[in-house]
Amino acid sequence: MITDSWYAVATPRQVRRQPLALRRFGQDLVLWRDATGRVVVMPDRCPHKGARLSDGRVQDGTLACPYHGFRFDPAGACVATPVQPTTRIPHAMCVHPLPSREVHGLVWVWVGDGTPTEEVPWFDDVPTDSVGAWDGALVYPVHYSRMIESNFDVYHFPFVHRSIDPGMGEAVEDIAVHAEDDFIHSEGVIVNRSGRRTPYHVDFKAPNLQVLGLTRHVLGFIACTPIDDDHTWVYARVHTDYTRWAWVNRLLSFLILSLDWHVAQARQDIPVLRHLTPRQTAPGACVWVHADAGAARYVQWRARALQAQAQREETPRAPTPLRQAGA
Ligand code: FES
Ligand SMILES: [Fe+2]
Repeated sequence: MITDSWYAVATPRQVRRQPLALRRFGQDLVLWRDATGRVVVMPDRCPHKGARLSDGRVQDGTLACPYHGFRFDPAGACVATPVQPTTRIPHAMCVHPLPSREVHGLVWVWVGDGTPTEEVPWFDDVPTDSVGAWDGALVYPVHYSRMIESNFDVYHFPFVHRSIDPGMGEAVEDIAVHAEDDFIHSEGVIVNRSGRRTPYHVDFKAPNLQVLGLTRHVLGFIACTPIDDDHTWVYARVHTDYTRWAWVNRLLSFLILSLDWHVAQARQDIPVLRHLTPRQTAPGACVWVHADAGAARYVQWRARALQAQAQREETPRAPTPLRQAGA
């Protein structure tokens, strides 16, 4: 995967009073909130005897292991060993938190050895709040790179999703793609047999964010975060502005996302996507047509980014758990 980047890993409402176990980047993580309410993200393994910290509990602003009650502060230092309350605690009795942020309605984790950037990636045209929006997440049995690639594809709608939108056209016209640095913009117009034209755009921002605009009123923000080599956590937030009433827009966003998740994605997309080969994107593995221009740019960008990353990593460094992870 692309390292030295921020990845959205959860929604803030998932992280409550007690620790949350999550698997991301091929690694087991525990998320909890310290005494100030700040989200802490750590490897889900107690250094003492390897118990899962997520099975423990939050106690006085520390995370207590379920096995022998050793307690770790938000910086990862062990601050209490009940079995030997007065003995010096070994330095190695610690966990290493991952840099994290809670912003734009998501919990983000910095993956990599480099210094975290001040800003998490975001799109200028996507609201940072949830006014008139509805969100949710699904786990896909697909590598995250192929999820991102498939999100550029709107011309599968009349085939895979014919039953829920029989009027969607098969042809796409006015295809255009613009790419710069870590950003890709693609757009086109879906045309049906009666001449109805539905404009769309799909944008990508590194390492794993996308926005899908359909008509002028629906905007879908998507983050595809690797769970492991075979699974992706897909978070989506739908924003609509059909009316001037936020609650009506929110209701419409809920209906659109619910139909999309429970029918379009779960019953129609996943059965196709789970069998795609190769499992990860690879330049030359697919024969593109012009309508795939956005997807092709993403596949090229990812290949170049991985190549540059491999060159940077040629300098031997001590492996970290995240760099060992296969995702
Ligand atoms: S395994 Fe965690 S305190 Fe012993
Ligand atoms: Fe689909």
